[in-house]
Amino acid sequence: MSTADAKPKAGLEDTVATSSAICFIDGDRGVLSYCGYDIHELARHATFEEVCFLLWHRRLPTRAELGDLQSQLVSSRALPEGVIRAMRMLPPGDSMDTLRTLTSILAHYDPDASNSTPQANYRKAVRLTSQISSLVATMGRVNAGSGPIAPDPVLGHAANFLYMLTGERPSALATRAFDVALILHADHELNASTFAARVIAATLSDIYSAVVGGIGALKGPLHGGANAEVMKMLLEIGKDVPVEKAEEVVRAKLARKEKIPGFGHRVYHTEDPRATHLRQMSKDLCARAGMPIWYEMSQRIEALVKGEKKLNPNVDFYSASTYHALGIATDLFTPIFAVSRISGWTAHVLEQFSNNRLIRPRAEYVGPEFPQRWVPVESR
Ligand SMILES: CC(C)(COP(=O)(O)OP(=O)(O)OC[C@H]1O[C@@H](n2cnc3c(N)ncnc32)[C@H](O)[C@@H]1OP(=O)(O)O)[C@@H](O)C(=O)NCCC(=O)NCCS
Repeated sequence: MSTADAKPKAGLEDTVATSSAICFIDGDRGVLSYCGYDIHELARHATFEEVCFLLWHRRLPTRAELGDLQSQLVSSRALPEGVIRAMRMLPPGDSMDTLRTLTSILAHYDPDASNSTPQANYRKAVRLTSQISSLVATMGRVNAGSGPIAPDPVLGHAANFLYMLTGERPSALATRAFDVALILHADHELNASTFAARVIAATLSDIYSAVVGGIGALKGPLHGGANAEVMKMLLEIGKDVPVEKAEEVVRAKLARKEKIPGFGHRVYHTEDPRATHLRQMSKDLCARAGMPIWYEMSQRIEALVKGEKKLNPNVDFYSASTYHALGIATDLFTPIFAVSRISGWTAHVLEQFSNNRLIRPRAEYVGPEFPQRWVPVESR
């Protein structure tokens, strides 16, 4: 085939690149569903563990199946000593770089590393989901200059993460808020990091390589990196100034044609259904933590950006103040996105492996005309 007349859509906008049974988005109606279950219903009723099972098996677990999955996640939580040693040896740097490097190291300790049967790949999906959570919590400890905390087998996935991060048993409110945040971030169809992971898997490379690629894509400020950028913007505005200052700062950014982190979306033309929950969580948790200013400031920014640019907040906007109110350091925000999205990445990689064909698109050629005449180096 010639690519001479093929015109790609910039950023592959609206291009359907694969079939998938995992996630459905209707960007005009603001609908997001995992395997047919509305995200609002899942945010109200599910646990993250149930959502993992749903994404991996396309159906909800029975009580026994859920118990089995919980046991498998719990038994995989402890990090290999070598990974903790490597974490301490790395020079200080971006926490997504640390997560990317350490996830790659985790592969060396996986007993199924060289086994690529569907059963082994499923075990690796469970292990990765459990261990990335432990990894990010432990990174938070080490970054703060304190020692790792051993996982608590009695706690569920969300509560154990907060416990391994803070060393304290989290309240029921904090646990549920974090569980819901994990559910909301778990999957989002062919977002950039999931697409990257599927492209890697489609070469029949291994699941760790696919996930490491996904982490690299998630890091960017146009994707998962936006949640940390939102918090940096709020902190820059500052909590000790009148809340109107937020509008002044954002207006100035817009005048400079800067993008406001946490706004806009390639697919949604309405409110991002995940933002609806995170807005409410931000309100409740900021009030509970005695820092309502972050929610109030966020609301002002939302009203301004909606009015001036007709842009809605996306998943990252209110997750910033939500995580901040939970006492989480800003540099862990994007790694926490990975703690959730690992479920979606692995679900997509398993789906890719189950019906694989190499993903190899074409490019529209826009370079120098063919054929060019060869000029010896001494004559150029
Ligand atoms: C999410 C995002 C990458 C989608 O990108 P996209 O579909 O390629 O949309 P574009 O970047 O082409 O934006 C279209 C228009 O809206 C504007 N726009 C989009 N997001 C904007 C934002 N957050 N702030 C200000 N303007 C924005 C663009 O400047 C552009 O305006 P123009 O047509 O006058 O040049 C984009 O909205 C963005 O960069 N948002 C901020 C980062 C973010 O929150 N990412 C997390 C996404 S979940």
